[in-house]
Amino acid sequence: MSLKKDFLWGGATAANQFEGGYLEGNKGLSAIDVIPNGKDRVVVMKGKMKVKQCYDEHYYPSHEAVDFYHNYKEDIALLAEMGFKCFRLSIAWTRIFPNGDEKIPNEGGLRFYDDIFDECLKFGIEPLVTITHFDVPMHLVNTIGSWRSRVMVKHYEKLCKVIFTRYKNKVKYWLTFNEINMLLHLPFGSSGLVFEEGENEEEIKYQAAHHQLVASAKATEIARRINREFKIGCMLAGASTYPYSCDPKDVWKAMRRDREHYFFIDVQSRGKYPNYAKKMFKRMNINLKIEDGDEELLKNNTVDFISFSYYGSRLTSADPEINTKTAANLFPTLKNPYLKTSEWGWQIDALGLRITLNALYDRYEKPLFIVENGLGAVDIVDENGYVEDDYRIEYLRQHIKAFKEAVEEDGVDLLGYTAWGCIDLVSSSTGEMSKRYGFIYVDKDNDGKGTMKRSKKKSFYWYKKVISSNGEDLS
Ligand code: BG6
Repeated sequence: MSLKKDFLWGGATAANQFEGGYLEGNKGLSAIDVIPNGKDRVVVMKGKMKVKQCYDEHYYPSHEAVDFYHNYKEDIALLAEMGFKCFRLSIAWTRIFPNGDEKIPNEGGLRFYDDIFDECLKFGIEPLVTITHFDVPMHLVNTIGSWRSRVMVKHYEKLCKVIFTRYKNKVKYWLTFNEINMLLHLPFGSSGLVFEEGENEEEIKYQAAHHQLVASAKATEIARRINREFKIGCMLAGASTYPYSCDPKDVWKAMRRDREHYFFIDVQSRGKYPNYAKKMFKRMNINLKIEDGDEELLKNNTVDFISFSYYGSRLTSADPEINTKTAANLFPTLKNPYLKTSEWGWQIDALGLRITLNALYDRYEKPLFIVENGLGAVDIVDENGYVEDDYRIEYLRQHIKAFKEAVEEDGVDLLGYTAWGCIDLVSSSTGEMSKRYGFIYVDKDNDGKGTMKRSKKKSFYWYKKVISSNGEDLS
């Protein structure tokens, strides 16, 4: 079995890292728009420092990002030139409902996405839409505490009804929440949660997770009513956790680490809270408020496919003496002596992608979709805007080989692959521009200076060939 003929090759972006135009067309303020660059960024994202607004002394990378808002025609034409079959983007909630709690949606915001989808469809590019990618209206953070409140489910439902109805003939593939498991690690950055002194943070996070899981099931229910052809997916920050050694204690710890992530997908795909989670809640003194009807809703509205991001595997040990940590997209991990790392310390492990695909397929037996993968690297650009990014090509080549093996040798059902940040965009974890993933270079630096001009890197031509050969030619 080789890749399907209609395999969805493409690239992925998120509104807050890509669009800019943060208050244009009546857009409201999103939580992500108040997250500054610099040393406080991760502290704010973790919900440890409260911010309610923007301050003049800070630089906020989401405000202008790389200005897809004004460049979308040129950008989509470039993606089409590469032969994209699919383009993953997210809807900024605050373009549709600027405060989140209005009754009537903002027509300007709806029209913006109409134009984008029309432009994609003109080139035969299938849009893959993330309903929320680290995106919450700031007004709902300030008034109801975001996802800690059950009322969020209603606001989210309203958003889904509006966009599903409006785009029912333009969009088929939807993801309900980007990296839903990130809620546990970046509670403000991903879900607008902040904590008061002395609160049971774990309980608040899991309650918010319950609200998102209910909202996701509601979205699935509504979607099926509006268009039976829709395909609804969940989205996991994926990667298998390896045990540091064959000590059963390490193996056990790795299994438990994986469950922290699988927990969300277990509910979204199998339709119920797994027993291990119920026991964990008891141990952690977490009392979830589950309303009548929630369990049935979860059971009856499981996802059609499972999507995930993959940047590298994780490693854990039960021995506290072993503590050589490295970065892994804000997840805790030890440094794996067998793996090289990126300039940001993320471990590079192409075989780990095959392992993760197999683990997910064995567990859920549903079609999978790799919706993020790539190498964040510093690019050296010449005077013509050209970047010789052989390191990126090599990373992608190895990862594409790995997922092809998962399909061809192991029988995994894979719908597509959208490489992260296909056009350079703002890094989510660091706010930098210098952490680049794209096939297309954008002239902008970490302080927001630059012409914003787009130019093709070497990887642009390479990926074009990969797509046109449906992954057969990786040379
Ligand atoms: C994922 C997110 O966690 O990783 C993206 O869904 C993010 O929004 C990507 O950009 C890569 O992370 P970073 O920090 O390199 O931008």
